[in-house]
Amino acid sequence: MPSAPAQRATAVPNDLEAYWLPFTPNRAFKAAPRLIARAKDMHYYTPDGRAVLDGTAGMWCTNAGHNRDPIVAAIQAEAAALDYAPAFQFAHPKAFELASRVAALAPGDLDHVFFCNSGSEAVDTALKIALAYHNVRGEGARTRLIGRERGYHGVGFGGISVGGMVNNRKLFGALLAGVDHLPTTYSREHQAFSKGEPDWGGHLADELERIVTLHDASTIAAVIVEPCAGSTGYLPPPKGYLQRLRQICDKHGILLIFDEVITGFGRLGTGFAADFFNVIPDLMTVAKGISNATVPMGGVFVRKHIYDGLMNGPENVVELFHGYTYSAHPLACAAASAVLDIYKDEGLFQRSAELSKYWEDGVHSLKGLPGVTDIRNLGLAAGIDMEGRKDAIGARGFDTFVKAFELGLMVRQAADTIAMSPPLVIERNQIDEIIDLTGKAIKATA
Ligand SMILES: Cc1ncc(COP(=O)(O)O)c(C=O)c1O
Repeated sequence: MPSAPAQRATAVPNDLEAYWLPFTPNRAFKAAPRLIARAKDMHYYTPDGRAVLDGTAGMWCTNAGHNRDPIVAAIQAEAAALDYAPAFQFAHPKAFELASRVAALAPGDLDHVFFCNSGSEAVDTALKIALAYHNVRGEGARTRLIGRERGYHGVGFGGISVGGMVNNRKLFGALLAGVDHLPTTYSREHQAFSKGEPDWGGHLADELERIVTLHDASTIAAVIVEPCAGSTGYLPPPKGYLQRLRQICDKHGILLIFDEVITGFGRLGTGFAADFFNVIPDLMTVAKGISNATVPMGGVFVRKHIYDGLMNGPENVVELFHGYTYSAHPLACAAASAVLDIYKDEGLFQRSAELSKYWEDGVHSLKGLPGVTDIRNLGLAAGIDMEGRKDAIGARGFDTFVKAFELGLMVRQAADTIAMSPPLVIERNQIDEIIDLTGKAIKATA
């Protein structure tokens, strides 16, 4: 008879060892962990009950604030009604309902949406749709993908290939072949302390013409950019830049993809950055704010011509061999529908627009603090650059981030930049508190 499995000698210890944290220096974290136990509205709470004002909407995602009752109720009800239904060859009503609702919200004829579970999946899905689209219409030589320096498009192989942040790329081999990059739109020399969209830099879109001259348009499938680069420290686009990219893409039959994972759902005071800039991309990726981060969800919106272009061939054959077990997961759809209700009922996109000037004045009041080398803002988000310490890139940024947390404020850190993007439900006095605590943290680490 097979022997019974050996009993474990000890109970499983509840220590910090087993969990491998993403994008975190694990050993340093485990030596001095920062734990979050619960959240409500504008605040996080540590296990010992200390309130921390959320200056970052989690990670640019809890736009409606935390643990909102209607969202919690919707998730609970859906979990009790339908935990899961197969995503391939089956569907459930809430998937269609949500798709119709978000498609109606999306600008222009971005009328169809492919659901996935994260921004990274959305990006890889969008790149694949772009390639497939050109393929089925007989332009299969269009395989090149163009990203941008300092871009962040998640961590899939497609996303890191078109992305432009060196640490996310350098250990992972040759990445996708045939990728090229536009230059970053950021220049401190020309743009420091710009309010909103910088005046300088629109001409950098013309670099796409240079890339087209090098490779020929017939080999280029798509250009992907974040309307405002987020993870690299918040870089709003220069005036006219996105409009010019759109023109050049149109001229050469290149698809334009906006990665709206952080700009979607109200960050700039409009549904999407595409609305704000009045530039309609061919494909648009979303995640985060779509479900207020309660249940993971992402999506790719496509314009009618892209969808129609792929709906050919025999009707009983799969048009796109792509999808996820959890595409349009019932809980995510229920959550997202409740989130859309809140955005609408509370006018949160409008609220974000109304607060953006107050926010701008607040963040720019930090100019002149020790070592602050640039402050950028657009919508309800900002990036503050600080002079780094000699031979220790990111050390000051990290210390400032930790200091802010000790003072009761959550910010994000990218090297020596502090980024902030509060929930759109924020009150003016809470903006004041963010500015006050950020200023104190910056001074403390000077
Ligand atoms: C612009 C952009 N694209 C993609 C992603 C990746 O999203 P996720 O972490 O959900 O995979 C992010 C995440 O911050 C992002 O900011």
